[in-house]
Amino acid sequence: MSIADTKNILIRIREAAREAGVIMRSAHQDQNEIAPDKIKAGHANFVTIYDKKVQEFLTGRLSEILPESHFVGEENGRDAFDESFRHGFTFVVDPIDGTSNFMNNYGPSVTSIGLFRDGKPYIGVVYNPWQDVMFSAAAGIGAFENGKAIHSSEEPLSMSLVSFGTAPYYPELRKQVWAIGSFYLDRCVDLRRSGSAAWDLCMAASGRTGLFVEPLLQLWDYAAGAVILTEAGGRITDLEGKKLEFCGPSSIAGASAGVSREEYLPPKYE
Ligand code: IPD
Ligand code: CA
Ligand code: CA
Repeated sequence: MSIADTKNILIRIREAAREAGVIMRSAHQDQNEIAPDKIKAGHANFVTIYDKKVQEFLTGRLSEILPESHFVGEENGRDAFDESFRHGFTFVVDPIDGTSNFMNNYGPSVTSIGLFRDGKPYIGVVYNPWQDVMFSAAAGIGAFENGKAIHSSEEPLSMSLVSFGTAPYYPELRKQVWAIGSFYLDRCVDLRRSGSAAWDLCMAASGRTGLFVEPLLQLWDYAAGAVILTEAGGRITDLEGKKLEFCGPSSIAGASAGVSREEYLPPKYE
């Protein structure tokens, strides 16, 4: 695949994300439509008809871009790669990341599209339709915010904001979540909680925060953001510092260039 081919695919995925954003924005014209349509397992894990509408739209549009590709989307019930996804192209999509923000008309909710090639992260696109902000990246090509190259921050942890995810659907992780929050609050400028993991990874990629951590995320939450952060000069591992396998749920630590390895991992919590 040439650089020109990669750029062409990236442009087409960005267009698809923008169209998904039009669907998301249309929802807020009728507040009744964003009520939960379904509740999934775990604490307060809602699905609206818009999560399904956006996924349905992207399933069709993305397969026009790469007809041979596989598709893993949050709303089709898979949470891990199967072996066939290791060959060729696989889209990993979170139609709306930040559904509780979306339902409450609060803060970022985004469309997140990751593309894997032979099992390896290849392209990431995260679009926030409320602010019309498009983050995108492709392996070896760099990361961009609305078309402008972005780079993660060079500041140390002590001079950085840290965003952290509360793994809201997993009550068994509460103690760990607050222990992690408390650990970083003592070591950084302040904590932030956006409600969208994909957005949080883009905040680290674009130099606004120095670090993002969350004790448990699904592949579609971090697939696109991982490409964007890595291409922006940051790094992403699990909370123990291990390289990500990109095949299913994991804890996530995404750090900017300036936050050293020693600084960014929290101690182990039971
Ligand atoms: C959630 C958001 C949230 C994070 C959760 C995710 P959803 O995704 O990314 O920030 O804390 O762990 O599950 O359910 O809104 O797509
Ligand atoms: Ca999500
Ligand atoms: Ca979602």
